[in-house]
Amino acid sequence: MTMEPKMSNATPVLEVQGLQTHFFTHGGVVKAVDGVDLKVHAGEILGLVGESGSGKSITGFSVIGLIDAPGRIAGGSIRYLGEELVGATEQRLQKLRGKEIAMIFQDPMMTLNPVLRVDTQMVEAIHAHEKVSAKAALARARDALAMVGIPSPEERLQTYPHQLSGGMRQRVAIAIALLNRPKLIIADEPTTALDVTIQAQILYEVQKLCRETGTAMIWITHDLAVVSGLADRIAVMYAGRIVESGATADVIRAPSHPYTRGLIDSIPTRATHGTLLRQIPGMTPSLLHLPQGCAFRPRCSHATDTCLAVPQPEPAAFGKTVRCWHQLTAVVA
Ligand SMILES: Nc1ncnc2c1ncn2[C@@H]1O[C@H](COP(=O)(O)OP(=O)(O)OP(=O)(O)O)[C@@H](O)[C@H]1O
Ligand SMILES: [Mg+2]
Repeated sequence: MTMEPKMSNATPVLEVQGLQTHFFTHGGVVKAVDGVDLKVHAGEILGLVGESGSGKSITGFSVIGLIDAPGRIAGGSIRYLGEELVGATEQRLQKLRGKEIAMIFQDPMMTLNPVLRVDTQMVEAIHAHEKVSAKAALARARDALAMVGIPSPEERLQTYPHQLSGGMRQRVAIAIALLNRPKLIIADEPTTALDVTIQAQILYEVQKLCRETGTAMIWITHDLAVVSGLADRIAVMYAGRIVESGATADVIRAPSHPYTRGLIDSIPTRATHGTLLRQIPGMTPSLLHLPQGCAFRPRCSHATDTCLAVPQPEPAAFGKTVRCWHQLTAVVA
């Protein structure tokens, strides 16, 4: 019997099990997401980390039901507060989107309408899901802007998106995601394009908000350093699979998967200043031509013939879950 952390007694806000999202293209089947398990509880931030093309965004889009042909969910389950969303009607998904489950995109213009004033869009976003007076909606919009650290929210409400800086635009998009007090936010690299100071501010505000409101969050990024200061738990994705997941400190301090270790070794720190950072050798594989067995095998210095079989998610040190035949035990110096 394994000891379960206390929090897991409550129904998770999101529980993804064995999710498979595949694209049926002329070139073959692209298994963008291939057996992904994720769990996020209320007030918790999960960092979903991986290189470009590993399937992070497709995982997020699958959760909110935004996968278009030639893609579809080919297997697995996505439970939102216990409710199965795989196979749910478009009507149901539409009701959840923007109300209970919100997504923040890398490009704020995916959320913002360039020809509408900020106040108009924010009031519309509220009215799409709730009948409240225009006055109450405006007050809520103002509060949401203040919550993401926008100075003089009253004035910003009266601007058009193009009158705002990139950082401000992204804050407005985040504020819109917060408007209907969602229970789950999926943030897909929303700060990558912003400068580091603004990025840090937004991360701080978002973290505070989750703690205060109990909102669960999935923060998608290719940058392990970004989530290590933000997330409670981290899931590392490689070629459509989660290769390692666990509490942030345990993943960073004692990575069990060679890929996670490689990511950590390539983060610049004060100790490595002036020296060459170690990079993971080789390239991310094409999902159309995945190596047999563990997809990381050709780049891994620990690989053996055993790795020709796909490793399944197994319990690892510190309560983590790891897909690797040769789990590491050393702690990062
Ligand atoms: N419409 C599509 N048809 C075929 N393949 C697709 C389609 N959309 C996505 N894919 C493939 O799915 C894989 C995962 O894509 P995804 O966008 O989730 O990656 P990501 O981890 O978010 O990468 P990035 O960090 O670059 O955003 C990619 O290899 C991509 O080529
Ligand atoms: Mg992406």
